[in-house]
Amino acid sequence: QRGGFDHYMLKEINEQPAALDRAIKGRITDDKDVHLEEFPPGTFEDVGVVHLLACGTSYHAALYAQQILADRGIPAQVFSAGEYTTTPAPVTDDTLVVAVTQSGETADTLSSIRIAADRGARTLAVTNVIGSTAARVCDDALFIRAGPEIGVAATKTFSSQVAVLALLAERIAEDVTGAVDPDREALLAALTELPGHVEQTLNQSSAEALATQFINRDEQFFIGRGVGYPVALESALKFKEITYEHAEGFAAGELKHGPLALVTSDTTVFAVFTGRHDEKTLKNVEEVRSRGAPVVAIAAGTDHEIAEAADEFLSIPETHPVAAGLLANVQLQLVSYRVADLLGRSIDKPRNLAKSVTVE
Ligand code: M6R
Repeated sequence: QRGGFDHYMLKEINEQPAALDRAIKGRITDDKDVHLEEFPPGTFEDVGVVHLLACGTSYHAALYAQQILADRGIPAQVFSAGEYTTTPAPVTDDTLVVAVTQSGETADTLSSIRIAADRGARTLAVTNVIGSTAARVCDDALFIRAGPEIGVAATKTFSSQVAVLALLAERIAEDVTGAVDPDREALLAALTELPGHVEQTLNQSSAEALATQFINRDEQFFIGRGVGYPVALESALKFKEITYEHAEGFAAGELKHGPLALVTSDTTVFAVFTGRHDEKTLKNVEEVRSRGAPVVAIAAGTDHEIAEAADEFLSIPETHPVAAGLLANVQLQLVSYRVADLLGRSIDKPRNLAKSVTVE
């Protein structure tokens, strides 16, 4: 059942090329246009603002989508669904509320959708499960087609959520602005190449060889900027969830506003580089290295300056920054998996956690 893999998580990490292929299949035309059967051009022309509601890994995918929407000039806000149920954001009739939920059954997310709908917002579920509660209660649904995910740790569904949200963002942006952003062609080309790039990343990853260096450390920090920030948060969540070791994700620029006080030679720092504002993240790498922390950089293999600035290097193919973040995330999924495996953890069913959290 695990297809020859020791754990479902590893199987699902390796399923990402096929899952991504399904996620984008038929949704990007040959001339690099977005084609979402459910949402023809003009569907979102009345949208003024996008609110994204989600929990956990899906929350990180929502943060990723927020960045893509912001790049296209579309105001977007992300809410942790559990917080939204405590303090709902004001909505107007031009608010599109997008619930991002793999299972479509997360209690906090469902409650927050119901609150937003009661207040008059238009709702859309981005989910993996056809027939799930989220798909049924929202006005519309867009499916990520990742296939069943058994491991409690979300892996392939994160990549597929981001890919599908990127397509949705392009549809919304074109409808709202009435124009096609000059960057769209490059982004869609990168998404088309993404399954192959993930395959390449999986085949060439040195995460397993490096993993012994990342055990029995005080803590691990993950830093990134732009879409590298949600990747840092997601990678830290994955690391703590399956290794039971302390890990935190930060926006790279935030380090010097507090967390730097924690950095010692016993802190491993994973730095995500996406090709955008890398020079700033390099400065953050210097800051932590000068406090003795070893740095693992995840960046395009062609970037020798970054490779030389770090102690270890995990290479990804050169591509659009939005796709680069996902490739870096794949490398860091492998890091978490390999460390958890070395520590003998219950990888597919980490202690205290459930795949679907159906209580608030
Ligand atoms: O099914 P959902 O996407 O709504 O689940 C939300 C979170 O419980 C989930 O993403 C969780 O954080 C992951 N399983 C962690 O890997």
